Amino acid sequence: MAKMEVKTSLLDNMIGVGDMVLLEPLNEETFINNLKKRFDHSEIYTYIGSVVISVNPYRSLPIYSPEKVEEYRNRNFYELSPHIFALSDEAYRSLRDQDKDQCILITGESGAGKTEASKLVMSYVAAVCGKGAEVNQVKEQLLQSNPVLEAFGNAKTVRNDNSSRFGKYMDIEFDFKGDPLGGVISNYLLEKSRVVKQPRGERNFHVFYQLLSGASEELLNKLKLERDFSRYNYLSLDSAKVNGVDDAANFRTVRNAMQIVGFMDHEAESVLAVVAAVLKLGNIEFKPESRVNGLDESKIKDKNELKEICELTGIDQSVLERAFSFRTVEAKQEKVSTTLNVAQAYYARDALAKNLYSRLFSWLVNRINESIKAQTKVRKKVMGVLDIYGFEIFEDNSFEQFIINYCNEKLQQIFIELTLKEEQEEYIREDIEWTHIDYFNNAIICDLIENNTNGILAMLDEECLRPGTVTDETFLEKLNQVCATHQHFESRMSKCSRFLNDTSLPHSCFRIQHYAGKVLYQVEGFVDKNNDLLYRDLSQAMWKASHTLIKSLFPEGNPAKINLKRPPTAGSQFKASVATLMKNLQTKNPNYIRCIKPNDKKAAHIFNEALVCHQIRYLGLLENVRVRRAGYAFRQAYEPCLERYKMLCKQTWPHWKGPARSGVEVLFNELEIPVEEYSFGRSKIFIRNPRTLFKLEDLRKQRLEDLATLIQKIYRGWKCRTHFLLMKKSQIVIAAWFRRFAQQKRYQQTKSSALVIQSYIRGWKARKILRELKHQKRCKEAVTTIAAYWHGTQVRREYRKFFRANAGKKIYEFTLQRIVQKYFLEMKNKMPSLSPIDKNWPSRPYLFLDPTHKELKRIFHLWRCKKYRDQFTDQQKLIYEEKLEASELFKDKKALYPSSVGQPFQGAYLEINKNPKYKKLKDAIEEKIIIAEVVNKINRANGKSTSRIFLLTNNNLLLADQKSGQIKSEVPLVDVTKVSMSSQNDGFFAVHLKEGSEAASKGDFLFSSDHLIEMATKLYRTTLSQTKQKLNIEISDEFLVQFRQDKVCVKFIQGNQKNGSVPTCKRKNNRLLEVAVP
Ligand SMILES: Nc1ncnc2c1ncn2[C@@H]1O[C@H](COP(=O)(O)OP(=O)(O)OP(=O)(O)O)[C@@H](O)[C@H]1O
Ligand SMILES: [Mg+2]
Repeated sequence: MAKMEVKTSLLDNMIGVGDMVLLEPLNEETFINNLKKRFDHSEIYTYIGSVVISVNPYRSLPIYSPEKVEEYRNRNFYELSPHIFALSDEAYRSLRDQDKDQCILITGESGAGKTEASKLVMSYVAAVCGKGAEVNQVKEQLLQSNPVLEAFGNAKTVRNDNSSRFGKYMDIEFDFKGDPLGGVISNYLLEKSRVVKQPRGERNFHVFYQLLSGASEELLNKLKLERDFSRYNYLSLDSAKVNGVDDAANFRTVRNAMQIVGFMDHEAESVLAVVAAVLKLGNIEFKPESRVNGLDESKIKDKNELKEICELTGIDQSVLERAFSFRTVEAKQEKVSTTLNVAQAYYARDALAKNLYSRLFSWLVNRINESIKAQTKVRKKVMGVLDIYGFEIFEDNSFEQFIINYCNEKLQQIFIELTLKEEQEEYIREDIEWTHIDYFNNAIICDLIENNTNGILAMLDEECLRPGTVTDETFLEKLNQVCATHQHFESRMSKCSRFLNDTSLPHSCFRIQHYAGKVLYQVEGFVDKNNDLLYRDLSQAMWKASHTLIKSLFPEGNPAKINLKRPPTAGSQFKASVATLMKNLQTKNPNYIRCIKPNDKKAAHIFNEALVCHQIRYLGLLENVRVRRAGYAFRQAYEPCLERYKMLCKQTWPHWKGPARSGVEVLFNELEIPVEEYSFGRSKIFIRNPRTLFKLEDLRKQRLEDLATLIQKIYRGWKCRTHFLLMKKSQIVIAAWFRRFAQQKRYQQTKSSALVIQSYIRGWKARKILRELKHQKRCKEAVTTIAAYWHGTQVRREYRKFFRANAGKKIYEFTLQRIVQKYFLEMKNKMPSLSPIDKNWPSRPYLFLDPTHKELKRIFHLWRCKKYRDQFTDQQKLIYEEKLEASELFKDKKALYPSSVGQPFQGAYLEINKNPKYKKLKDAIEEKIIIAEVVNKINRANGKSTSRIFLLTNNNLLLADQKSGQIKSEVPLVDVTKVSMSSQNDGFFAVHLKEGSEAASKGDFLFSSDHLIEMATKLYRTTLSQTKQKLNIEISDEFLVQFRQDKVCVKFIQGNQKNGSVPTCKRKNNRLLEVAVP
């Protein structure tokens, strides 16, 4: 950016003058000197107004860098020093911004730098236009079409190592934004004669050398080629290598470019196969062979090459061989076949090679077009770039040079039309004061060549179509007749005697004075080349190829589509396409680049003044400057001019009501533009100096910026205001809503507060009323009560005399009765369960009923006990009676008793009946046994115990030996007087016997038993039932026992834990037996 700030105006740091219009004095010498001076300082570009003169530097200059592109981007044409980029930028911007289709016309001699210039223009446009994946691909394809076309269409000539041997016009299409959409390439007449023959020091088309140098061994084998150039007759050997050109590297570049442009691999290989076939065709050689009928016939010398060509192209070898030996002419229904002699066979071979190559080239252009064509149908803006072969003067100039030079004549014509002639005519038309400038108008030369009745091309066509013998000489004769009087036609044999003695004019030649100089054309080959004849046998043979590309190149070979009409001649085809091109160019805004070649040696730093002078002359550059200087640099119709600059003046801005012309007058007066700087035409304003225009443009730019600021200001103001109003409106709405909400809330609060207060007041009032009402009610009740009492008193007082004596008692009784009744009814419902052990009993309701309540409880208990007892069987009854007896005897007296309550009284613990051991014992006892149990009998002597069977029968107490069952003692119950035992928890008991009885002779018994309570009870009961006397049961911790004669005291003491829980008995002395109870 910083770089862009440095303004190098056209006038700053100028070497010579950048614009020839400023040259003073203006003549050929100063013109050339200026060019040379600039060339010597590496300034190769110079302007004539808007035309760019480019002098080929023949060396690479650092003036095409991306920085340079940026420098020239969006800058005014005259703002920076002259450059091809300035012209490209101007053309691109006016295409993009003003919607004007553009064409870039690049002219100049061969080697003057046209192709390079066209590439520079394209690369500049590619660099400055839009970016993006899609756009970049389009750009890349457009740019990469160049290497492909150059490989196939360019060749080294003596004038130029990379000479374009075809004309090229490329339309680049853009969308409304200026982004490239695609392109269309038109090609003009490839110099196909070069395929078979090249002048000395020149090469065939680059592709042949590139293929042989750059292809891999594998590819060469596939194409049946050898790397050695000398193997091929069509490749001239003397200049096979070009200095500084790497054919192999270029081959890779071309393959890569083909890929980018969109060639499939198989397509690229097909193309190379055709190239190989062309090369190999050149190696087919013929030898003469005489036939019996005397006709000459040719024969292929070595069929190997033919065989390989057939293999490459997929043509039947015999078909191709026959096509090289015979020529079939079809006329109406007849078919005539003639043999070809050697010369004719060579002619046929070369014709085939040329046709094959030129058709391949056209196919390539179409294929590229297919790839790069715009994919959209929207309206396109077009920039055409014309790079056509330059004017050529060789030693031997043939039909090709004639055609090329004709094309250059046409281009010069269009230049004249659009600049010189048109400019001058416009001044006259517009009534602008004007001094006429003489310039050479080459229309007359164009007419000499292209005139439909007697132009050279028409003559040539006429000659070609004429029946009878037609040769180049007959054509020249015809020219000599028809064109003899033409100023620009020269021929030794012409009827005009001017050239009879001109030795520089050979007999077989004619000379044309082209605008760029005189050119001598060899007439030889004109007829042939114009006819461009390919024998039908050959095109049919080609059509039969299985190689699809070759087949498609020869559609006329299809026997089904035989066309007996002659194809248009090369000359007429070219004329037609040039006419179309010219028409096309005329619809576009032209931009000129006039290339000048500084020397013939392709060398840098050499400026051959004579050569340059010649070019300046024929290009008419001086006239161009003169016209420019005499005229006006810029013109524009009043309306668009006023439209463009009306903002610069208050009266015209924003609307001018009057005619556009007076508007422009007012505008220019206001801007104080010097009157000599402009002129008013009929419909246009003419501005003399570009600087005036730039001044206007600068003012406009400044004003536009101001206007943009103004618009911005107004817009911003408007935006802010609308925003503010919107905010204000919103704020009011919000405030309204908020107020409403706040009010609603306040109202709700007030309302609920009012309700609360109301309810409190109402409550308070209601309570007050209620209190009053209650008071009234109580008062009423009190009154009623008082009244009732009073009445009662009254009544009682009145009736006292009648029942006062027993009324109270009656009431009392009645009340009591009621209460008791109620009590019983309630008791009925509250009765506890019938279980005798249930201790529940309802609580007492009235204190005065307490004794009743307790009594009722007792009665109820007795009753339920009775109920309970009533369920018992006799046996159960007996058991319970025994238990009851035990209870009465020992409860609360003997500590052992509570533990006996749960034990059922079994009596016969020892089952004597069942045990055979006691059979004798059993037999001895006849009575019912009540108790049969083992007890411990305490030894009177030492207190130790012996086991004895204790048997109680209805009348006796028996003791028997436990082991033998032998009865030891038998005591009748009547002799048992007493039973003694301790109050403690032990099983000791003494059975006292009646003194003096038989049983008592041995003394009383002292036992211990686990079933003491049962035994004592049963003993008691049995004694009672038998003797009707109650047995005395003494419970005491000290009692006396009679042992024989002695009375021994049995004393029970507490403690002595030595023997665990078992009570121990010990004889202490003669009088004391101590039982320790744990
Ligand atoms: N601007 C340039 N900068 C450097 N070298 C240039 C420039 N223009 C041309 N040349 C050199 O001049 C040679 C010939 O240029 P170019 O091929 O553009 O000529 P031409 O006018 O197209 O010729 P022809 O009519 O034969 O095709 C180029 O190969 C290149 O070496
Ligand atoms: Mg060229």
